[in-house]
Amino acid sequence: MKEENQSVSKTLRIAVIPGDGTGPEVTAEALKVLKAVAELEGFAYETTTYDFGGERYLRTGEVLPAGAIDELRGHDAIFLGAVGHPQVPPGVLEKGLLLELRFQLDQYINLRPVKLYPGVPTPLAGKGPEDIDFVVVRENTEDLYCGAGGFLKKGTADEVAIQTAIYTRRGCERCIRWAFEYTRRRNNPKGKKLTLVAKTNVLTYGHDLWWRTFQEVAREFPDVKADYNHVDACCMWMVKSPEYYDVIVTTNMFGDIITDLGAILQGGLGVAAGANLNPDPGGVSMFEPMGGSAPKYTGLGVINPIAAIAAMAMLLEFSGQPHAAQRVTDAIQFVTGNKMKSQAAGQMGYSTSEVGDLVVEQLQQQATRSAAEVAGT
Ligand code: IPM
Ligand code: MN
Repeated sequence: MKEENQSVSKTLRIAVIPGDGTGPEVTAEALKVLKAVAELEGFAYETTTYDFGGERYLRTGEVLPAGAIDELRGHDAIFLGAVGHPQVPPGVLEKGLLLELRFQLDQYINLRPVKLYPGVPTPLAGKGPEDIDFVVVRENTEDLYCGAGGFLKKGTADEVAIQTAIYTRRGCERCIRWAFEYTRRRNNPKGKKLTLVAKTNVLTYGHDLWWRTFQEVAREFPDVKADYNHVDACCMWMVKSPEYYDVIVTTNMFGDIITDLGAILQGGLGVAAGANLNPDPGGVSMFEPMGGSAPKYTGLGVINPIAAIAAMAMLLEFSGQPHAAQRVTDAIQFVTGNKMKSQAAGQMGYSTSEVGDLVVEQLQQQATRSAAEVAGT
């Protein structure tokens, strides 16, 4: 069975960038889970590890060596642990590594599920897993993130700073169309709804382009309800009535902000994962836990690896292994629901690697149970 599977499916080539701080610790657990699920599913994979991050930058003065992007292009997917180093000035690694990869690899979708797992506390009173289950599709290559702008008379009393948001028809259209397709595929039994989140009442150029494009693309998807919220109202609704949302599509900057709000609704950065997708043929996508490098927890074995394991599940989902992804998601839900005391670093009731072990153990038990069910029928 295993051989047969391997002969028909090609080896999944994964570039692994453990990164800074607690990145390597959580990456190790995600890889542990990958190994276990690959054995159960019978698919082959190989990993290449890259030491990009703060340490390397401090040693060599460069963030990404020449040729790195091309090498990464030769993989099916990238797994990124975390970026951010206390000795490196803010922006250097974020721009030089994370944003550089998103832009160079044209990962134009940032997909961030906001899903409350069983057993995970949310700060929202009276809300449970059935209420908090939506997905944010964040445009990932434009907006204020382009880095367009500059200073005039820097350092003087007359200083002027300009930071320009760039939106293109092509950029918003491909993101919006992907979001409609995704909403259709997600097929929410409560009804398929895509909410555009923007600020058309103030950003009357850029977000007018988004609005017009959204209306046009919506005509191709009559089965999906096309909905609109201003971003400020969206923040209010996410807290008051998260069950209102199915899929949200939004601009890069607003998406950055509302997905941190979403992360805390689902139990925090220890749980939240995201995918930077280039869905075009031959595109290389990158998967990451949303939490940063958490320097103060580095090396202590107390950081929560669930977000990294969930990012690995997303990698599998978008790399032709949706069944493996489902197994991992089921195992995560069992572990958060039945084992872990908390999702906060140092309060899980287990160490980082013990949480990884629990997920692996659960994967194996699920497999034994389903084999027994098949044998019994
Ligand atoms: C995120 C992060 C990044 C972003 C930072 C680290 C540049 O906050 O992935 O949401 O702003 O996109
Ligand atoms: Mn962010």
